[in-house]
Amino acid sequence: HGTSRVNERGILEIGGCETTELAATYGTPLYVYDEALIRSKCRQFIDAFSQSGFSFQVAYASKAFCTMAMCKLVEEEGLSLDVVSGGELYTALQAGFPVDRIHFHGNNKSLDEIVMALDAKIGCFVVDNFYELHLLSQLAEERGEKISVLLRVTPGVEAHTHEYISTGQIDSKFGFDVQNGQALDAIKYAHESNHLHLLGVHSHIGSQIFETEGFLVAVKRLTQLLGDAKDQHGFLPEVLNVGGGFGIRYVEGDTPQSAHTYIKAITDLVRAELDARQIPLPELWIEPGRSIVGDSGTTLYRIGSQKEIPNVRKYVAVDGGMTDNLRPALYQAEYEAAIANKMNQPATEVVSIAGKCCESGDMLIWDVKLPPAQAGDILAVPSTGAYGYSMSNNYNRIARPAVVFVKDGDADLVVKRETYAEVVGHDLLPKRAQLQR
Ligand code: LLP
Repeated sequence: HGTSRVNERGILEIGGCETTELAATYGTPLYVYDEALIRSKCRQFIDAFSQSGFSFQVAYASKAFCTMAMCKLVEEEGLSLDVVSGGELYTALQAGFPVDRIHFHGNNKSLDEIVMALDAKIGCFVVDNFYELHLLSQLAEERGEKISVLLRVTPGVEAHTHEYISTGQIDSKFGFDVQNGQALDAIKYAHESNHLHLLGVHSHIGSQIFETEGFLVAVKRLTQLLGDAKDQHGFLPEVLNVGGGFGIRYVEGDTPQSAHTYIKAITDLVRAELDARQIPLPELWIEPGRSIVGDSGTTLYRIGSQKEIPNVRKYVAVDGGMTDNLRPALYQAEYEAAIANKMNQPATEVVSIAGKCCESGDMLIWDVKLPPAQAGDILAVPSTGAYGYSMSNNYNRIARPAVVFVKDGDADLVVKRETYAEVVGHDLLPKRAQLQR
């Protein structure tokens, strides 16, 4: 998909670049991003909204893949940005992202993070709980500023997704509960506060969601809540944010909808429900992460050792694993793969792809069909653009891979490969050993 193709020499090309060349130039593992495909995903959401008649913001959820280059690209495409930590905020600021289009999320923002965001004059805070609500109100008073907030509410929707990543159900660490009245109390507090500017409400019901159903149930609960807020407290929203969670295809059988289908279903229902309650249409915001960037990333690995257990399984090991892609180990996430330098050879073997970490659970793919693999071959794993680099780690003191953006035959290094010196860069020998040196 995207600009991927197999060239005359049977080599996988992305963005007009031979993946084998990229691996040779930048080393492996390597995250390769198809820049044109990311841009087209951004535009699909914008186009879908443009047809809806709503004012809107599409905020890229930077947790999916947060680097300065990505912040820049998202800015160029006219998106806003959702950050959830001081680190993500810092990345956006370093990239020069327009501060008024930054939204700050998180269920336990620290005082330092909040002050950093206030000093930067970001667009709004998505407030998660009463502790934060009171803290912001107090800070606003002290600073003589008015702080713009959205309230994250938990509409009680269980999205059809892996339990680790569903966040809209009642028993969740996130947000003000709609069902027990906390959400309405929070609206009253923020609406009546002289220090807060209440923009509206937000919900996020989960991630990697294929059906529109879950979003529609959430919209019903949110609009019901807004109806109560209007009737009881005279509050009319300027913004309604329905979060992210739109699914992508990882393997055969994954059936995400198009951006257009999700947005059409959501905008139609929001309009109908708000019209029925005589609430003027607010701006509609969404926060896609995975669906902007997931498809666009491919990880390249070099194949090394193999182990065959006769009549049981053949393990093919690569030079990365759970350090660059934690998703299989953490969520039993599934991926497809191909040998980038043997694209025209028939897939005659079923093998399992092992990572290089000292942990049996470090398996990237169970049972994938490939041509016979040899040491030195390049394995390409597509759809690793979201939550791969962003959840990478230094387990076993493995250095993080480099990231390149490719487009029209040009490769742009946007994150350098970590060095061993950087991996130990924050270590200090104990004082006694420093004296002995
Ligand atoms: N907005 C909020 C408030 C969120 O919590 C999330 C994701 C998003 C937006 C973006 O969701 P997306 O469009 O990417 O599905 N590490 C997991 C996914 C965790 C998602 C957490 N929140 C994974 O690798 O599957």
